[in-house]
Amino acid sequence: MERSLVLIKPDAMKRNVAGAIINRFEQRGLKIVALKMLRMDETLAKRHYAIHQGKPFFDGLVKHITSSPIIAIVFEGEKAVELIRKIVGATDPAKSERGTIRADFGMDIPNNAVHGSDSPENAAKEIGLFFVEKEIFNY
Ligand code: RTP
Ligand code: MG
Repeated sequence: MERSLVLIKPDAMKRNVAGAIINRFEQRGLKIVALKMLRMDETLAKRHYAIHQGKPFFDGLVKHITSSPIIAIVFEGEKAVELIRKIVGATDPAKSERGTIRADFGMDIPNNAVHGSDSPENAAKEIGLFFVEKEIFNY
């Protein structure tokens, strides 16, 4: 079984659609094995988005993700990383396929509702930023 990290971003939290979004993943057979609500600080945000350091949108990205509490979730399932990326849709909600989370709940590129890890390697790294092993359940 593969694991991936999902973040419910501040724009989705502020619009009260976290539950509806989590439901989309559960409906597709993904299991919640860890979950917490937290407010990311600048240090965590910069670590989480380290691959985007130096890009023109980096500062805005850090500002957005730290602007309210978020929900961090580890989902487990068959090919979880790829499946979650598919359920989430393209980065730009305007270009996301109908029925994807970003098409249905996203507003624009910064306010695109969720984060999903883009590879099993990055998923493992990202999960380690948010959870210690005893917070991740096997059941
Ligand atoms: P994510 O990491 O959040 O799941 O999104 P993603 O893989 O689809 O997109 P990525 O390229 O990793 O970018 C991370 C987040 O940065 C913001 N972004 N802004 N202004 C821009 O051109 C731009 N490009 C990316 C988005 O919020 C994106 O989700
Ligand atoms: Mg990404």
